[in-house]
Amino acid sequence: MKRELRVGVLTCSDTRAAGEAEDTAGKELERLSRESGWKVVHYAICPDDEAPIAEALIEMAQSREADVIFTCGGTGLGPRDVTPEATSKVCDRAVPGIAEAIRAESLRVTRRAMLSRGYAGIRGRTLIINLPGSKKAAKETFGFVADQLEHAVEMIAGGGH
Ligand code: MTE
Repeated sequence: MKRELRVGVLTCSDTRAAGEAEDTAGKELERLSRESGWKVVHYAICPDDEAPIAEALIEMAQSREADVIFTCGGTGLGPRDVTPEATSKVCDRAVPGIAEAIRAESLRVTRRAMLSRGYAGIRGRTLIINLPGSKKAAKETFGFVADQLEHAVEMIAGGGH
């Protein structure tokens, strides 16, 4: 069954939050979500700090009632890459298979995929998925999970198979 998902996109990047670089990855996730027939209910850019990332995720999950939130960026090994930590702290349950699938599929594209620490989990009724931050990586990884998201959201809402 086709379901119109409510999608939030959160870009986590110091340079993009400061307006020093264009957020091509976040815009691409918006475009891909709309192309999938989903509604983008919120889009935001945060610096790479845990508190604003966590706040934005909670706002999108609660006030905007997003079914799915994609974050992009901040999943690497740099000292300011804290998106997975902020995300896991606001989630009630982990969905390791999504992060595993993203890394497994991405390794076929680039060996650097093992350096993305992206996390996926559920806060309330919202599925939150960390994606890497380049436009290329965001587009590829969106493509690795998109086909399972409508069913995932049905399951989170208590629907059967
Ligand atoms: N995954 C895919 N599918 N394609 C990519 O180009 N880039 C990798 C990795 N995952 C990449 C990818 C690189 S170079 C890095 S450093 C990590 O994601 C972390 O990216 P981030 O810090 O922007 O989140």
